[in-house]
Amino acid sequence: MNVSRSTARSPYMEWAKLQLAAKYNLATSGMISLPLAELGVKIEELEINGPSIYGYDPLLKAIADRYRVPQESVVSAVGTSLANYLALAAITEPGDEVLIEQPSYGPILDVAQYLGLTVRRFARPAEMNFALDLADLERQLTPRTRALVICNLHNPSGAFIPNPVLGEVATLARKTNTYIVVDEVYREMLFEQEPQTAFHLDPERFIITNSLTKAYGLSGLRCGWLLAPSDIAERMWHINDLHGATFAHPAELLSVIAFSKLDQISAHMKALLDTNRALLKNFLDSRNDLDYFWPEYGTIVFPRLRTEKSSWSAAALGCAENSLPAEGKTSTSTTEEFCTMLRNDFDTSVVPGRFFETPSRFRMGVGIATEAVKDALNQLERALDKILSPSRP
Ligand SMILES: Cc1ncc(COP(=O)(O)O)c(C=O)c1O
Repeated sequence: MNVSRSTARSPYMEWAKLQLAAKYNLATSGMISLPLAELGVKIEELEINGPSIYGYDPLLKAIADRYRVPQESVVSAVGTSLANYLALAAITEPGDEVLIEQPSYGPILDVAQYLGLTVRRFARPAEMNFALDLADLERQLTPRTRALVICNLHNPSGAFIPNPVLGEVATLARKTNTYIVVDEVYREMLFEQEPQTAFHLDPERFIITNSLTKAYGLSGLRCGWLLAPSDIAERMWHINDLHGATFAHPAELLSVIAFSKLDQISAHMKALLDTNRALLKNFLDSRNDLDYFWPEYGTIVFPRLRTEKSSWSAAALGCAENSLPAEGKTSTSTTEEFCTMLRNDFDTSVVPGRFFETPSRFRMGVGIATEAVKDALNQLERALDKILSPSRP
């Protein structure tokens, strides 16, 4: 166990907050921001102070109705970020074992470490299109495993785990009496008429984290929540008393209004995402220098540069000839240098794969405006062409 609160930090969060925004931004994973005006809110509908108790009843009800769960199973949280923290904090003690997918969204690992948990991993291999490797999961699960942690859709790959597979995970977890935490923040990007959640597969075992952040462009509301067995939900409220205690009431009111308009917002976001995904797919298909898994849903892809030593230009990447990758191998330094070159020379940002324990890849997302996607893909094209043929303008 390695617990040190004085050194706790999240490298990914720091990078996401501090990197200067590039003009062409493919680094975001969420949908474009929804302007306040789109919610059609009247000032009389807002108030500053609210009931200050365990959640705002109309908001808890809106969440419970949407997912068809009892209201006692719903807990409010400041974004999926705090929801993930509350999920792990409520079901573990320091030293307990948790089993987290690999690759994973970095802050989940950071939270587990902060809570003093012993982290074990199971694989979501690129060769399996980032599906859950159930054989590996079964090997790593032990009666000491308190919780299993999965993201659906997966960040960074975007891979979707269908319910029957999660049902198989539940069967395995039952044998070891393990909770299953599923971060469903990107699952909202299926934009379903009747939104599904893994919670119903086993409401005594699944703990779901989610928010309005990613699919609806409403990050600023910080409207996150958990679905959990009611005894665990109560523990989460108590832990939250030590942290945020209560919530920003204007945001609670705006969130209730957003829930009432979620169908319209979904239709708008889905149309935008369908258009942008088609552009991205065309782009990827046009490049034989990128190796990628194409996810069924969502904004993100996690490609790898195909590395053929003979075709790369060290000069363009600003690296020494002998640091170029061997034939057929992925060079992590080359990918990192490519991301830097893309940022510095083409004012375009993607997320380097090192933030997802996969330095040979990078993550790019297309939830932004369609014109911005076109421009950014154009820049990416120019950057890739440059490393293949540095003499091109
Ligand atoms: C998998 C995952 N969970 C949670 C979050 C944070 O969500 P929120 O903004 O709702 O806190 C992110 C943000 O990138 C994420 O990728």
